[in-house]
Amino acid sequence: MYTQAMDTLARESGDALKPVRSTEEKLLEERFDARIDAGDFIEAKDWMPAHYRKTLLRQISQHAHSEIVGMLPEGNWVTRAPTLKRKLILLAKIQDEAGHGLYLYSAAETLGTSRDQMLNALHTGKAKYSSIFNYPTLTWADMGTVGWLVDGAAIMNQVPICRCSYAPYARAMIRICREESFHQRQGFEALLTMMQQGTEAQRAMVQDAVNRWWWPCLMMFGPPDAESPNSAQSMRWGIKRVSNDELRQKFIDATVEQAKLLGVTLPDPELKWNEERQQHDHGPIDWAEFWAVVGGDGPCNQERLGARVKAWDDGAWVREAALAHARKHTPQQQAA
Ligand SMILES: [Fe+2]
Ligand SMILES: [Fe+2]
Repeated sequence: MYTQAMDTLARESGDALKPVRSTEEKLLEERFDARIDAGDFIEAKDWMPAHYRKTLLRQISQHAHSEIVGMLPEGNWVTRAPTLKRKLILLAKIQDEAGHGLYLYSAAETLGTSRDQMLNALHTGKAKYSSIFNYPTLTWADMGTVGWLVDGAAIMNQVPICRCSYAPYARAMIRICREESFHQRQGFEALLTMMQQGTEAQRAMVQDAVNRWWWPCLMMFGPPDAESPNSAQSMRWGIKRVSNDELRQKFIDATVEQAKLLGVTLPDPELKWNEERQQHDHGPIDWAEFWAVVGGDGPCNQERLGARVKAWDDGAWVREAALAHARKHTPQQQAA
């Protein structure tokens, strides 16, 4: 799914990149900037500034980790889906997320870092993933709500990345966005079924899920623009095309109408249409909560990371067997 505040680590990295550059490097950088300005796409073998490479690697690998970790809250409900149809949809969605992770790890590998290195960074807590997956999925209505709101926010975030200046990332995002669109629709449809054909208790379940997910979903777009120091550089490089606050606003404006169709209330008493701005106003977002969850203090951080590390450890024998098999089939050994 889910790039969120991929620039949240900006606080750590700052502008570490102001190295002394040779005349040749300056020339290369000027040429690179001109290509970006002309709307060119950068391919893996093209020259790129070290900081551009580093920024992309961080963003794409965190995006890949988010897809893989994002399978966990939904995997929690596969055995309890209410009908065979819902189970098939949920399984297909979770498999899509695995696929998204794989495209993105592949795109990130083109920048010169191995998948093992990226996974090691995840498992040791050095790399982040979207903090939305550190919230629990408590009822079946959470499955619909995750599709509707979390995947909905993801689409809003990700459509502009289809025009990212780094071509391997942009190409991966085109297919991912098509699949995310299915994820969002299935979630909305599942909730609509509960709201229109369900019992009073089921409708209450939907409202409760929306109440819990709304604010964390708004946080998925990352901190306000004024507190997002790396955004300007990412915009300059065509990695980021639309600002956090603009994307958040677009998501809110689109979702308000969908909530009316569903018959649910979004849990923000200050949410109202502003005629002058032609946009919705909304109440304050609890950024202290956001930073606490990003920092490891969310309801499920330990559980999620623990599950990924266990999956890696449990898969050791598969990796060993695959390597042994590959060694047996090297050309030298076949010739021997
Ligand atoms: Fe998704
Ligand atoms: Fe996804």
